[in-house]
Amino acid sequence: MRAMPFLQFPQGFQWGAATASYQIEGAYDEDDRGLSVWDVFSHQPGRVVNAEHGDVACDHYHRYREDVDLMARLGLQTYRFSVAWPRIFPFGYGRVNEKGIDFYQRLVDALLEKNIQPALTLFHWDLPQGLQDLGGWANRDVADRFAEYAALLYERLGDRVSRWITLNEPLIFTQFGYRLGWLAPGISDLKMTAAAVHHAMLAHGKAVQAFRASGRAGEIGITNANTSFEPADDSPETLRATELARDFETRLYHGPVYGKGYPQAVLDYYASEDAPFPIEPGDMEVIASPTDFLGVNLYSRQRVLPDDARGVGYRAAAPTLPLLPMGYEAAPHSLGDFVRWVSKEYGRPKIYITENGVCDNTEPVNGAIDDHLRIELLQGFLAGLHGAIADGADVRAYYEWSLMDNFEWSFGYSKRFGMVWTDFATQARIPKKSAAFYSEVIRRDGLDA
Ligand code: BGC
Repeated sequence: MRAMPFLQFPQGFQWGAATASYQIEGAYDEDDRGLSVWDVFSHQPGRVVNAEHGDVACDHYHRYREDVDLMARLGLQTYRFSVAWPRIFPFGYGRVNEKGIDFYQRLVDALLEKNIQPALTLFHWDLPQGLQDLGGWANRDVADRFAEYAALLYERLGDRVSRWITLNEPLIFTQFGYRLGWLAPGISDLKMTAAAVHHAMLAHGKAVQAFRASGRAGEIGITNANTSFEPADDSPETLRATELARDFETRLYHGPVYGKGYPQAVLDYYASEDAPFPIEPGDMEVIASPTDFLGVNLYSRQRVLPDDARGVGYRAAAPTLPLLPMGYEAAPHSLGDFVRWVSKEYGRPKIYITENGVCDNTEPVNGAIDDHLRIELLQGFLAGLHGAIADGADVRAYYEWSLMDNFEWSFGYSKRFGMVWTDFATQARIPKKSAAFYSEVIRRDGLDA
């Protein structure tokens, strides 16, 4: 008899884990791979903690078979990974590199052999440097180059991959890459940011259209970065500020996909700063090309207050919950809250949680890693998700970020998100306690409340 109520997930719900090319592959100059913006950025002084980079990372390029075996041992039913665009087109366009295609074919075949469904992200931030040299996402042509790259992958991998994600988190790679300069390519320019946002959304739409034109069976969608915004108090000003936060950070990247356009407040703000969105006739229709699912990434919440001194009209309120090593709050209720909100806002789309997880830097003691904080928070996230599904959200899969510790962008290797410990000196993989916890969730299709 079970002592605790059991949170049973719906029949057919899929359990997976996620990674991204630059964060795990290494082999940055092998088999004719071109350079990406991250190769260049991470080797510039002062960009990444401890001057770390992804030259070797988890060496997954050479160890993918063992990594797939590990996934099978954990019981994963699906695996989300990304393709490094510069492995396929070393310069971003023009010459195709067969060795790059071959790697992903071998990876996908290895997954299928183990009955693990591949979910392929076309772009997880490693833009070919050849395209950056032409202006990167700020140059409108990038949208066509992306659609060509996507079409080639549909052709060469579409017989065995049926779940496609166009872009990972346009909010992050545009705002942090072109406005704040904290991520590659490290630019701080509002005009370029507006252009990058619009061209990224346009690239998404064109890649969706190319997928339909390819005639391949399967499904395609976008993955956005999300925060669950909460008003810090009940005043009308704060409620309004919370809607502004949602406009700038959520609706800007979801609205156009669902035919609602860019939020007016955001367009007005950029125009007032002499950085208008470079929208051409027909663009919004392309961006609104129907998708099959919505990919949701979520890690935390943020309380919001009004702030008229800032052009955007809102700011983050002081945290009230314990902070995680990433600097944001440990807020496991945020996943269920956000899923309820986004499901309602966009007419109950089919949702995949394409990323959710916890940074927990617990080190091995006698070869064992007791990452109980990660387990505790995962339990909370999953319980919240279960509640949102019970309330009617159509969530079909959950991908834990991440399979293993990896290169955490400008934090280098100092932040560990893996369920599996990566020993970066020996490349040993050691499943943590959270991996055992997650395997149990998968085996039982749910967890104790
Ligand atoms: C990104 C991942 C990253 C994770 C954890 C997400 O924004 O898609 O690449 O590692 O957050 O910070």
